[in-house]
Amino acid sequence: MMISRYSILAAATGAWVILAAAGPVLEVVQIETTPNGFTSSPRGWNSFGIQANPNTTPGFSFNQTGVLSQCDVLAKTTALKDAGYIYCSLDSGWSVGGNGDEFGRIIYDSSIFDIPSLASHLHAEGLLLGVYVVPGAFIADEAKTILGTNVAIGSVCSGDNGLARCNFDYSQPAVQEWHNSVVNQFASWGVDFIKLDFITPGSPANGVNLPPDSSGEVIAYHQAIAQSGRDMRLDISWKLDRSQKYFDIWETNADSMRTDQDINNGGASTFVSWEVVQRAIDNYRQYITTVTAYNTTLTIYPDMDNLFVGNPASVSGVTDDERQTIMTHWLGAGANLIVGSDLTSLDGLGLNLLTNPNAIAIADFTAHYPMQPRNPGSGLANSQQLQAWIAGPDASGAAVVIIANYGPDEGQGGFGTSLSGMQTISVSWDDLGINGTFDVHDVWADKDLGAESSGLSDVRDLSKAE
Ligand SMILES: *[C@@H]1O[C@H](CO)[C@@H](O)[C@H](O)[C@H]1NC(C)=O
Ligand SMILES: *[C@@H]1O[C@H](CO)[C@@H](O)[C@H](O)[C@H]1NC(C)=O
Ligand SMILES: *[C@@H]1O[C@H](CO)[C@@H](O)[C@H](O)[C@H]1NC(C)=O
Repeated sequence: MMISRYSILAAATGAWVILAAAGPVLEVVQIETTPNGFTSSPRGWNSFGIQANPNTTPGFSFNQTGVLSQCDVLAKTTALKDAGYIYCSLDSGWSVGGNGDEFGRIIYDSSIFDIPSLASHLHAEGLLLGVYVVPGAFIADEAKTILGTNVAIGSVCSGDNGLARCNFDYSQPAVQEWHNSVVNQFASWGVDFIKLDFITPGSPANGVNLPPDSSGEVIAYHQAIAQSGRDMRLDISWKLDRSQKYFDIWETNADSMRTDQDINNGGASTFVSWEVVQRAIDNYRQYITTVTAYNTTLTIYPDMDNLFVGNPASVSGVTDDERQTIMTHWLGAGANLIVGSDLTSLDGLGLNLLTNPNAIAIADFTAHYPMQPRNPGSGLANSQQLQAWIAGPDASGAAVVIIANYGPDEGQGGFGTSLSGMQTISVSWDDLGINGTFDVHDVWADKDLGAESSGLSDVRDLSKAE
């Protein structure tokens, strides 16, 4: 690789006026309280990156000891905990894979986890617990009776979705009772977060046999959480359908939704590769432009998948500049800040990217005003190598601007023309859809750039060897 990629994140405050003439009108995008009552995306850690890429983290086992060796780092590292990284989220494999309990409820694999004791350990440290589920009841449980009913699971669930489970008939009231029984048991264990995977429409190229529409599962989990009396987040996955019909279901039932497929490198000795990050960023661009055409007030956070910025380049799989670029975009989007890195070997850059007070202030801002694309020279929202984004402005006139050089198209971004060598990226207030004078602060450099009345510019070298 002979290129570096950089982005700068600038926060600006000042007077602003929405322009009607030059570029397209800027419609400020906002996120309001989510269906389960949250006003920011979750921050924490999830086990999937290490489970899928075990060579990154020698000695890790996916069991209670291994998970605590990671999550205790969140509790013991004041900077991480103070920045709000409190979720310890288990991915696939924590529960028994082929059957439930006598009522068909999901149970933990007691050979590797004791979930109530894990929850109390985490809660005592000020952390929260996340678990992972997929749609349907177990085929092996079809003869069992749903708790509190006389309904056999097999009378409301049939077929085979390829995950050892049958497909629910969501029009049957007993199906909600099954979800209530599962979530009430989670609540009694102390669960705070549910990742619901393999939801359709979405979850493409899954290699299993998913039904075309399992959106009823998202509604059922939301209702089950509401009746449980416990605060829990619902995160749904993956690459969910963005049509208005389904987006309305997602944003009225879930708190965050995956905007792309998995980004980790399967089985490699590194976590992620740049071209796949490029794809994830472009999927966010497609997502935000699609859903804000329905309504610029959203009630769901984007989940761009786990953040792989914590470890050195040799383990993360992306350069230090790219690590910063990843963090910049996850921050800008108001996306889930769920780290997938090995927390036991964070380097100084990783810790700074995750906990830098300026960066966390940006996350707090974009939790209400997520970024949208407004490109240099046009103000348009298309995919380009040299791209710009704006979040806000809010009512006080504060905005976040990101200007990025993604490097040449590596097959995922659809940039068209690829530039190389020194490139100046300039974005005018006109391009961004604002005007007036802003006091500009470079977030990562923590440097005041002074008052600007026309725009931002930055030179990024694409020929620098890595
Ligand atoms: C987790 O796995 C490690 C390595 O196999 C083992 O030493 C440890 O006892 C296991 N812990 C639990 C709780 O299963
Ligand atoms: C846009 O979304 C907000 C928040 O959900 C809602 O209150 C408002 O009615 C919606 N507007 C339209 C035009 O649908
Ligand atoms: C902002 O744009 C409007 C509309 O083009 C213009 O009338 C106004 O003078 C501009 N204000 C500043 C401070 O540039």
